[in-house]
Amino acid sequence: MKRAHWGSRIGFILATAGSAVGLGNVWKFPYMAAQNGGAAFLLVYVAIVFTIGISVMLAEFAIGRAGERNPVGALRRLKGGPWPVVGYMGIAAAFIILSFYSVVAGWTIAYAFKAAAGVLATSDPEVLGAMFNDFSGNPAQPILYHLLFMALTVGVVAGGIHGGIERSCTILLPLLLLILVVLAVRSLTLPGAMEGLRFYLQPDFSKVSAETFNGALAQAFFSLSLGMGVMITYGSYLSHRENLPRSAMWVTACDLLVALMAGLVILPAVFAFSFDPQAGPGLVFITLPAVFAQMPAGVVFAVLFFVLLVIAALTSSVSLLEVLVAYFVDQWGWRRKSAAVALGFIAFALGIPSSLSLGIWSNFQIAGRSIFDFLDYISSNLLLPLGGLAITLFVGWVILPQAMREATSEGAHPFPLAGIWRVICRYVAPIAIAWILLSGL
Ligand code: TRP
Repeated sequence: MKRAHWGSRIGFILATAGSAVGLGNVWKFPYMAAQNGGAAFLLVYVAIVFTIGISVMLAEFAIGRAGERNPVGALRRLKGGPWPVVGYMGIAAAFIILSFYSVVAGWTIAYAFKAAAGVLATSDPEVLGAMFNDFSGNPAQPILYHLLFMALTVGVVAGGIHGGIERSCTILLPLLLLILVVLAVRSLTLPGAMEGLRFYLQPDFSKVSAETFNGALAQAFFSLSLGMGVMITYGSYLSHRENLPRSAMWVTACDLLVALMAGLVILPAVFAFSFDPQAGPGLVFITLPAVFAQMPAGVVFAVLFFVLLVIAALTSSVSLLEVLVAYFVDQWGWRRKSAAVALGFIAFALGIPSSLSLGIWSNFQIAGRSIFDFLDYISSNLLLPLGGLAITLFVGWVILPQAMREATSEGAHPFPLAGIWRVICRYVAPIAIAWILLSGL
């Protein structure tokens, strides 16, 4: 069978940006920035994104388009030997990340409903905190929302590359950007918002440490969907005429823009109402509803915000499931629809312990962490960086001439930064990632 392709260039960019833009941008980035010195973290993050991040993305695109397969198949076809192991690692990471990502995404659906019902309309973070703990610790409800979210993901992926993923992202991503702009305007025009803006944009370098770099790199990999073969898979559906460096540039810029804007929505509002910006993972589920409750027409903005989160999560979870589906379709000859349903169900089942670990299973710990935190940790801090390390080594040392031809589309597109990309893939990225991996252990 002929391999499916994206319908248009913009469709591919939106689908890929949809994968990158997700809970990582809106839920994680603002509190990471708040906890790590505001603008100082931002500077480190931007530097990492535009050196290592964008280079790994381009490396993945090149592997995907040259190999025209899922991560395992592409690496086997391009070189074989031990390299497909990197693809298998990606498959494992996709199962793990999809399982807990869908749990959190399920919360966002529940919160969109709660916001619409007016249940969140209290300005007392204590009450909201208790509500969040009750909800996420409940043994049944979050699992039902997790199932609902997984079913949505399966529905999109079963529709195929063009009719499912591309079409839904072409609608959803512009909608997300629109909601984000509305929210940012609202947040920045609140009285007292400027203090938040100052905190966000004025660097505090005393907070920069090795941990800042570690955190920024892990965040960059997660936010750009790198290190496990999403970009290999999406690149494998790409036409040979497409300009890869330019695509990587657009996707990276879009992802960064959304992260920065999410910070612009959340931090000024949190400051305007004198809440603690460092509230951590609970920020969007506990602190923000309290902020919305104090705004005029807060219910509307709260609903908009949680709908935004659902959209962001959906276009990302779709890419995680697509990696799994592509593997079983290419390598095992499964039918796309059956693969989407079966693999989505397995990921759903795998997510149940994560969900329970926030409530009735909270006493069960692995290496001092709850199941949820443990899976998040080994995927973001171990599997993704390891995958990124292997991918840059593969491109930089194993298939460099072929990768260079791929990056210029056989000379059709000039790539003036080719020399820099080569140095980053060969030396800078592997060394930086290895250093950060080792310091994290
Ligand atoms: N990038 C998405 C986010 O920021 C999450 C995501 C989708 C992801 N696909 C991925 C993370 C692949 C790592 C690897 O929410």
